[in-house]
Amino acid sequence: MNQQINPDLQTVTAVTHWTDRLFSFRVTRPQSLRFRSGEFVMIGLPGDSGKPILRAYSIASPAWDDELEFYSIKVPDGPLTSKLQHIQVGEPIILRPKPVGTLVHDALKPGKRLWFLATGTGFAPFASLLREPETWETYDSVVMMHTCREADELEYGRALVEALEADPLIGELVAGKLHYYPTTTREESRYRGRITDNLVNGQVFADLGLDGPLTAHCDRAMVCGSLAFNKDVAAVLEGFGLEEGSNSAPADYVIEKAFVGDGI
Ligand code: FAD
Ligand code: A2P
Repeated sequence: MNQQINPDLQTVTAVTHWTDRLFSFRVTRPQSLRFRSGEFVMIGLPGDSGKPILRAYSIASPAWDDELEFYSIKVPDGPLTSKLQHIQVGEPIILRPKPVGTLVHDALKPGKRLWFLATGTGFAPFASLLREPETWETYDSVVMMHTCREADELEYGRALVEALEADPLIGELVAGKLHYYPTTTREESRYRGRITDNLVNGQVFADLGLDGPLTAHCDRAMVCGSLAFNKDVAAVLEGFGLEEGSNSAPADYVIEKAFVGDGI
């Protein structure tokens, strides 16, 4: 019904609440929508004035999926997420089907080992890329580093990673290639510390039994977090000799903002 009135309206098919600040949901996919795993789109809800409230969201599902998945923060007073967090199965959301973004395989030169570096909801584009066959066909190994303040914030990522090897489409491709390194910074858990520190002090290599350090010859990276995180990780990667790439000029690493912070 809704789709006939507005072609940008899609229907929610599933909602999962992970913590009081994080949830994921799935929506129907417009037949015409083509995207590359790792890209983002604008989604939203009708505003009170009738004008839609739209925000950028990474598509968390891979390009081959029949539906679209999103992984979202709940900002208590956020214009969109104060409403979006209450969305129910069967309800409509607005989706502008113009995918864009730099966290795509096309923006990287060929390499052997791929690093996905994320904080918080910056995991979302990697939820897509981890389920993308090209990721596993292109690289010998993939290291997924995800850091949050507290352990329960890692659960969406952990559940997704745990399901990968059982996935009928990519399970065999993934086997033996994935190195997962979830860390917390403000609560005890198996692995601790900031991504920047664990790369520079070599802890991630020691804990996972990987060869270090990163080199421009072997390593490629995709980065998604707050502006401060992205800036600091870029400096670390540049320190290892990696150069930033883009869709028009592929290189060794690419960056996307997970959100635009207060006052930035
Ligand atoms: P806003 O007014 O948009 O934000 C209010 C404040 O909340 C911000 O100033 C910031 O301090 C904080 N904030 C906003 N988003 C986040 C976040 N994700 N994590 C931590 N703090 C945040 N958000 C997602 O939840 N999932 C995504 O996959 C996602 N992808 C994005 C991709 C891009 C390229 C960009 C630029 C943003 C993305 N965002 C994502 C952020 C999203 O666009 C909105 O900001 C978010 O949904 C909150 O909307 P809001 O209207 O409720 O509050
Ligand atoms: P920390 O707890 O040490 O600040 P936030 O919720 O503030 O966006 O942070 C999410 C995660 O990213 C936290 O674990 C936080 O660590 C880490 N983090 C925040 N800023 C940076 C940064 N500039 N460099 C590395 N890690 C960061």
